[in-house]
Amino acid sequence: MIMYYDNKISVSVMCSDLLNLEKDIRTLEKHGADMLHIDVMDAHFVPNLTFGPDFIKAMQRKTSLPLDSHFMVEDPELMFGKFTLRPGDIFTAHVELKDQYGNLRSYKELSEKVRDNGALFGLAVNPETPIESLERNLAYIDTVTLMLVHPGFAGATMVDGIMEKVGKARKWLDSKDFERIEISVDGSVSAERAHYMAESGASIFVGGTAGIYRKGMDLKETIPAFRKAITL
Ligand code: DX5
Ligand code: ZN
Repeated sequence: MIMYYDNKISVSVMCSDLLNLEKDIRTLEKHGADMLHIDVMDAHFVPNLTFGPDFIKAMQRKTSLPLDSHFMVEDPELMFGKFTLRPGDIFTAHVELKDQYGNLRSYKELSEKVRDNGALFGLAVNPETPIESLERNLAYIDTVTLMLVHPGFAGATMVDGIMEKVGKARKWLDSKDFERIEISVDGSVSAERAHYMAESGASIFVGGTAGIYRKGMDLKETIPAFRKAITL
């Protein structure tokens, strides 16, 4: 098994106790979260509404951890420039968006703007979307986020058989000479599933209610347990 990257835990902020978020951030920093995952939803691309750029700015005032912003929105360009991207941050849009001709859109320009800030540009792929949809944008992305659930809500049920997509995506990316692209997995990522997917080539694990904010368990216990699961 070839190890591609250091495996990282990206903790999903929407699963936090939002009115006590600063306290949670301190705990996450102390116990070893590598980055914070922020789900931005516009109530159009997905049927839910969450955070926006002002929330990202507020987060930046409270932590120096890299922010992994996942834009589940129809117009990701609108989000660019409304907050400062820091080196190491990730700006992820969705591959399913179409251009004016009805084709999968190009992310060349947006990616260049993001990368000019020293940040990484990523594309997320819904469960029913084939990984080959990434083809025209491979040169412009640093990460691929494979959704294991239909996006929009924390605590959703994993789509049957979806974890097999990780190994397939890794092989496909490598066959195209894009070994440098990291695979992130998002939605219903438990420690046990994370271990399996780490072995299949994922290296960024979004920890929400399944992996980090587990019922009846403390962050002090869940973060180290999750870390152990992804340390191969
Ligand atoms: C799904 C979100 C995830 C979610 C992951 O739409 O993108 O970040 O919060 O957490 P759980 O483990 O609750 O699925
Ligand atoms: Zn997400």
